[in-house]
Amino acid sequence: MKITIDTDLEQLSVDDNEVQTTLDLFSDEAFEIISGQWAKVGWNQRYVYTFSWMGRPIIQLPEDMVRTQEVIYRVKPDVIVETGIAHGGSLIYYASLCKAMGKGRVIGVDIEIRPHNRKAVEEHEMFDLITMIEGSSIDSDIVGQVKALIKPGETVLVILDSNHTKQHVADELEAYHDLVTKDSYIVATDGSMKDLYNAPRGEADWIWNHPTAAAEEFAEAHPEFAIEQPAWPFNESGLSKNITHWPGAWLRRE
Ligand SMILES: C[S@@+](CC[C@H](N)C(=O)[O-])C[C@H]1O[C@@H](n2cnc3c(N)ncnc32)[C@H](O)[C@@H]1O
Repeated sequence: MKITIDTDLEQLSVDDNEVQTTLDLFSDEAFEIISGQWAKVGWNQRYVYTFSWMGRPIIQLPEDMVRTQEVIYRVKPDVIVETGIAHGGSLIYYASLCKAMGKGRVIGVDIEIRPHNRKAVEEHEMFDLITMIEGSSIDSDIVGQVKALIKPGETVLVILDSNHTKQHVADELEAYHDLVTKDSYIVATDGSMKDLYNAPRGEADWIWNHPTAAAEEFAEAHPEFAIEQPAWPFNESGLSKNITHWPGAWLRRE
């Protein structure tokens, strides 16, 4: 595909070998095309590895963080479960939102919590709202440990950000979906892999081996869940689609 931006003519042209389309550069559609390429190139350049939250690295696109904040503020979960801790920045982020709302706590699971990351999270101002569990997120003992920390009737949001193979995410969806309460979500993050398979840092099998594929099969098998991008609480634009590394990620429990 060839994308051409002509700033003099204020046009964006897309030539995909069969069809050529020319758009007004200052149109919502042109913005979406540019944003898609921006996200792809940015991922390759490790843009998401440049952010931190309250001192801890968080490996997320800021728009995904802000959209998640919109959901957390609306759902006001008692418990946020996240698989995939890494440096702990996302746990700290969710916990800081819980602290600001005066409601909620966070449970994180990682197959390997490196000692310096554990220490930094344990010494952090937000640690009183965080529990970390070390082990594979699909190990039945680990799943049991997470579930034992949640009381009946609590509102739960689950974010899956660990191993992003289709099979692993499918197993996580099966393991954790029963925790998710009505109108809350289980989020299969990082489905942008399906668009990144041909980027220099991508891998060929990502064309099929990605979290969104697991989410789609899960939604078909579990009609109580629908793939649905959460509505934006504020929108004074003509835009409607997230610029995201989490396409098709949000599974809402009906
Ligand atoms: C993308 S990073 C998580 C990023 C983090 N959520 C953030 O926003 O900064 C993925 C993490 O998943 C962990 N991981 C990989 N396989 C796992 C598994 N089977 N169970 C739990 N964690 C796993 C890795 O150790 C790594 O720390």
